[in-house]
Amino acid sequence: MAKKSLKKGIFITFEGPEGCGKSTHSKLAAELLRKEGFDVVHTREPGGTGVGKRIRDILLNFKNITISPLTELLLFEASRAELIREIIKPALAKKKIVISDRFNDATLVYQGYAGGVRLQEIKRIESVSIGKVKPDLTVLLDIKPEAGLKKIGIFLRDRMESKHIAFHKKVRKGYLDLARRNRRRIKVIRTKDTVDATFKDVKKEVLNVVRRYKRPG
Ligand SMILES: Nc1ncnc2c1ncn2[C@@H]1O[C@H](COP(=O)(O)OP(=O)(O)O)[C@@H](O)[C@H]1O
Ligand SMILES: [Mg+2]
Repeated sequence: MAKKSLKKGIFITFEGPEGCGKSTHSKLAAELLRKEGFDVVHTREPGGTGVGKRIRDILLNFKNITISPLTELLLFEASRAELIREIIKPALAKKKIVISDRFNDATLVYQGYAGGVRLQEIKRIESVSIGKVKPDLTVLLDIKPEAGLKKIGIFLRDRMESKHIAFHKKVRKGYLDLARRNRRRIKVIRTKDTVDATFKDVKKEVLNVVRRYKRPG
């Protein structure tokens, strides 16, 4: 079957605190759009490339508990630069839909709002690591940190997830602040009690952005 075609590549990111449902809903969105006949690439941060996976190990490994926010930032940016070069840019150039489980808003929030690195500094580094790549839509899944962490369970938490609850509260506030500053791009979706109920809202936003760039016919 011929793939449905788009006027340009579409980049959709999923963001939000731990356990909010990024992995779940980004995969559901990819499945939905594939069923609709689009060419979709699903990826996640950190990771998604060979180098990215190794960096992910450093960042999330429980034993490496003393990474400064600045080093953390640089590692994330290195992994992101690779992901953009290897996966995101080539797919967008072919007018595909790219869906990423986290992207640069996560850095602004985790290392910036919650980690204390100045937002201006992060943006300066990102002007090199990311360049002009920008999501067309960011789905921010909003959940109370206590509820999100409960879903993961205490024994399965990685280094990021096991930071103090106060950190996760800052993460949530940071995301909501970013959403207020980028109303057109970032759509806040409060998580509902079930995956299905939440995905209904996600689906609406995702189809909206795709409709904007669909070729007639
Ligand atoms: N809206 C929802 N209602 C109930 N459970 C959900 C919802 N969204 C996700 N889940 C469940 O919560 C857990 C965490 O979801 P996940 O997608 O892994 O979150 P994240 O990737 O944001 O950390 C999973 O067990 C998932 O099935
Ligand atoms: Mg996940």
